Amino acid sequence: MKLPLALLGLSAAQNAWHVSAVPLSTWSTNSGASPHAVDMFNTAIEWNDKYWDDQAGYLITSTSGSGRYDTRHSAWYATQLLARNAPGDVAKAVRIFDNVIAGQYLDPSKQWYGDYQHAPSEPEPGTLKYPDDGPYSSWDPNIRDFVGCAWIVALADYGHLLPAATVSKVENSLHIAAKGDLYRVGGVDGDNSYPCYSNPWIMRTILQNWVGARVGDANLTKSGENFAQEIYDLWSMHRTLSEFNSPTYAGVAMWALALWNQYGTSGSRLQKFGPEMLTASWNELAQLYNANLKNLAGPWDRTYGYDMKQYASLVGAVIWGVVGRDQAPVPQQELGMYHQDDFAFYPLFALAMPSMVKYLPAKAKANLLKFPGEHFFTSKAYSPPFDTYPRNITAWVSENVTIGAETVAETVVGGPSINPSQFSPAVIQWAMDDNQIGCIAHWVTQSSIDAVAAPGSLKISYPNATADNGPVSFNLLFSGLDLANGLNVTGLEGLPGLDLEISTNALPNYTITYDTDHSVNEFVFYNVTYTMPEAFAGTPYISLRVV
Ligand SMILES: *[C@@H]1O[C@H](CO)[C@@H](O)[C@H](O)[C@H]1NC(C)=O
Ligand SMILES: *[C@@H]1O[C@H](CO)[C@@H](O)[C@H](O)[C@H]1NC(C)=O
Ligand SMILES: *[C@@H]1O[C@H](CO)[C@@H](O)[C@H](O)[C@H]1NC(C)=O
Ligand SMILES: *[C@@H]1O[C@H](CO)[C@@H](O)[C@H](O)[C@H]1NC(C)=O
Ligand SMILES: *[C@@H]1O[C@H](CO)[C@@H](O)[C@H](O)[C@H]1NC(C)=O
Ligand SMILES: *[C@@H]1O[C@H](CO)[C@@H](O)[C@H](O)[C@H]1NC(C)=O
Ligand SMILES: *[C@@H]1O[C@H](CO)[C@@H](O)[C@H](O)[C@H]1NC(C)=O
Repeated sequence: MKLPLALLGLSAAQNAWHVSAVPLSTWSTNSGASPHAVDMFNTAIEWNDKYWDDQAGYLITSTSGSGRYDTRHSAWYATQLLARNAPGDVAKAVRIFDNVIAGQYLDPSKQWYGDYQHAPSEPEPGTLKYPDDGPYSSWDPNIRDFVGCAWIVALADYGHLLPAATVSKVENSLHIAAKGDLYRVGGVDGDNSYPCYSNPWIMRTILQNWVGARVGDANLTKSGENFAQEIYDLWSMHRTLSEFNSPTYAGVAMWALALWNQYGTSGSRLQKFGPEMLTASWNELAQLYNANLKNLAGPWDRTYGYDMKQYASLVGAVIWGVVGRDQAPVPQQELGMYHQDDFAFYPLFALAMPSMVKYLPAKAKANLLKFPGEHFFTSKAYSPPFDTYPRNITAWVSENVTIGAETVAETVVGGPSINPSQFSPAVIQWAMDDNQIGCIAHWVTQSSIDAVAAPGSLKISYPNATADNGPVSFNLLFSGLDLANGLNVTGLEGLPGLDLEISTNALPNYTITYDTDHSVNEFVFYNVTYTMPEAFAGTPYISLRVV
């Protein structure tokens, strides 16, 4: 049945772009974007459209957040609206710029100077009712970078669509954001901005470089050059980013490197180093990606889940842009995605695709489409000041099973982001059947872990075990059995599709719980825990071998 437009709440003008090819005739035809990138852009911006509250002039938050509306998503959406440029889009974008900028923190004496709110309902940070417990409490220092980078794209590519007053307003706001970003010094006042914090560091570098040139602030330009050199020096040690192989943040890093290449000033170090770093990122991705399982093999320095087909990740967006949604490690439907928040970012990845694929080697592209055959990967990554030595990375990538691991001795438990739910230094993934991906992820409780992958095996040991966080134990989280069909999971041995044999010097009577109170990143799992005897000699270890 065809409903009258009025019943659908659409004016004729609004409906026009919905059914016509208008979205395709704006950014995409000019940029040479592939049909896959165009599809990603349209799919994800239409998802964002559904969160738009026209009365407020913001996107409603797609997760429980700091308030009803989401400032960062709205800021991203402004750029996307300009790129689509359908009737009414530019006017909406102008409203968003006005709204988001009205919530920028302007007191230069505060650590959050130049930052943007999480949500427009938030009170001032650092007050009694909204205490400042450092970065990532009542304020998030990275929002400067996420908003700033999206708005670089808005001004550079679509500034001509905006009234002059809006252009200068956005420029001025970015100038303040960039100046505030320079307040960040790793280790000072609780700040964690080090070159090893790869994704925001790469974003801050282009923010400084681009804004410096745009407003003529030489100190910003110089800071951009210094930041580019600092991360390049660290990256060059092993040709890896410190936030190694993170299904979400490796995507952010690639996006931001594409911005270095596309928007970095000519003759800058961004333009000098960007192509090499982006090319290496593609090659690494192509080695660790398994196109059969549609997942990245471990280890994951920072992850938001255990199966990329179930949650929205930004490496997923990068691959979608190359191979199309059907073949990409992304959820195939929008409702029910885990970590759905990041879907709001996808259209910006689509816009960057032409610049990203410029440095995609043909062989790497082939691996994203078709698994190239069993191989073994080794590398290192280093995260000073957290690592006491560069982490050794090993990954066995086979047709239906991947095993990835890293040795690590850090000053903290849970990786530099001090978050065990993100840090997965030892992971096994496999095809349980034609549809389900099983995952066993090691849950960290120690700061020193030797996890080493070999063909068909994973060995985890604790060279410097402490009982500081409870009894010394190996916590292995098994997830992915969404259709158990009556199967009783009794341990790590006897799981579907993977015949494992366990050997360990821990007590043989492991515990197993299906713990719905403690899902990790929305994934529910079986928690199989092996505990060491109270008094033990030697180094605790557990070894998992595929037989
Ligand atoms: C210039 O940039 C540096 C960081 O690169 C910062 O420490 C310094 O405060 C800045 N100076 C001014 C005047 O903003
Ligand atoms: C890391 O790998 C190097 C060789 O590449 C080796 O010498 C070193 O012992 C390894 N470290 C650990 C902790 O496994
Ligand atoms: C991988 O899985 C496919 C599909 O289930 C199967 O046909 C193939 O034999 C498996 N390969 C190996 C090496 O087990
Ligand atoms: C081993 O643990 C002790 C006590 O927790 C700590 O002081 C020391 O730095 C650790 N050594 C290494 C190599 O991590
Ligand atoms: C699983 O366990 C239940 C309860 O112990 C038992 O009744 C059932 O037969 C078991 N299923 C299988 C497939 O072993
Ligand atoms: C496992 O066995 C040890 C020693 O036999 C015992 O002390 C411990 O309570 C047992 N743990 C569980 C979970 O049954
Ligand atoms: C897994 O179970 C162990 C033992 O009960 C517990 O100490 C640990 O916190 C659990 N891990 C997670 C992630 O729930």
